[in-house]
Amino acid sequence: MDKLIVKGGKKLKGEVTVSGSKNAALPIFVATILAPGINQISNVPFLRDINTTIKVLESLGAKVDGSGHVVKIDTSGINSHEATYELVKTMRASVLVLGPLLARFGRARVSLPGGCAIGARPINLHLKGLQALGAEIVLEHGYVEAKCKRLKGARINFDISTVGGTEHLMMAAATAKGETVLENAAREPEIVDLACYLNRMGAKIEGAGTDTIRIQGVSELSAANYEVMPDRIEAGTFMIAAAITGGDIKIHGMKLEHLDALAFKMQDAGVEITSRDGVVRVKAPKKIKGVNIKTRPYPGFPTDMQAQFMALMCIADGASVISENIFENRFMHVSELLRFGADITVEGNTATVKGVKKLSGAPVMATDLRASASLILAGLAADNTSEISRIYHLDRGYESIEKKLAGLGADIVRVKE
Ligand code: EPU
Repeated sequence: MDKLIVKGGKKLKGEVTVSGSKNAALPIFVATILAPGINQISNVPFLRDINTTIKVLESLGAKVDGSGHVVKIDTSGINSHEATYELVKTMRASVLVLGPLLARFGRARVSLPGGCAIGARPINLHLKGLQALGAEIVLEHGYVEAKCKRLKGARINFDISTVGGTEHLMMAAATAKGETVLENAAREPEIVDLACYLNRMGAKIEGAGTDTIRIQGVSELSAANYEVMPDRIEAGTFMIAAAITGGDIKIHGMKLEHLDALAFKMQDAGVEITSRDGVVRVKAPKKIKGVNIKTRPYPGFPTDMQAQFMALMCIADGASVISENIFENRFMHVSELLRFGADITVEGNTATVKGVKKLSGAPVMATDLRASASLILAGLAADNTSEISRIYHLDRGYESIEKKLAGLGADIVRVKE
């Protein structure tokens, strides 16, 4: 197992380029199931979750060529309708194959994903939506077994905003008979990216990015090429890296408009953020100020940036109140941040962070993807050396993060444990 050794105290300087978005690429890969033929997807991040998605598609009978930034997925030979527990437990987003398999073949058998480190994460709204589209669904032996003739358009009103649920139903409805309206749909940019790709394949989807998405079902989709949007969470993590180290960096390839909620809060904390010719400059103030955040569905403050923002607040002047409103157990990083000497108390879904003058390097353990990022950030700001173990979580979602940070002047290396 690998670990990271971080020697803190270096102010980050220079330029870095953001990779393609993990959370956009995953559903886009899955959507290729809908269109038999060769789909070429570019700006694909090189990540473990992408490899898992490729394994899922291959297990269904697709041929996948390329393990780097351009991936060709030939879905004409898909001949299985089953995604096994082995694959779904490795990455819960694999469950999204259910809708596309059902839409293309009229049947699917997919393992239920179960919970994960950040919460229970049920898929009841995905299943309820598929049933509204006419799927017959049975849960048996830990698997969802679904069948249908052709799915039929319906009005679906989500009880809560769900990114995966919205993506799943958008894919399933693309080739359903008639119109589907998704109400109270999630509005994340990754949903817009998926809708653009589906439309490129011939789907008729309007309103993605708003809370009402209208889908006129078409009889078939054709394979298409697509370039994945930049990863807003990776970009946000670099923004915090600059702020927490007293640095001054330029970030290429990101879309600042996807990160308004984060940028406003960072500006409240005193960070200078400017954008020119598509390049975003992030310059730390002399002293970070404590500000409060509440995670919300997009365009609110992203839960995927909560852990990293908390790391920043650990060294702020004053206190910060952080409420996590999306996942019920997304404070696993707190106990590890305490090992750096942070002052954080948690009550229910609220953490109160009192800024300390200095964090001190420590051996810590990553518990999930974004928690891992927050520990690296704390390590970059801390005195002395930190050792971050269990970084396999990190490899699920950040492409070569240690190399990119080292390129900005951080003292960080990966070693075998
Ligand atoms: N929920 C339900 N029922 C459902 C679906 C969701 O109760 O049927 C609940 C969830 O338990 C959660 C809330 O609704 O409390 C929101 O979950 P959502 O469905 O929006 O999350 P997701 O689609 O499972 C995606 C990202 C997550 C990100 C969330 C929220 C992907 C592959 N994953 O998850 O990303 O945190 O949206 O923005 O897109 C990450 O990248 O580290 C990550 C966890």
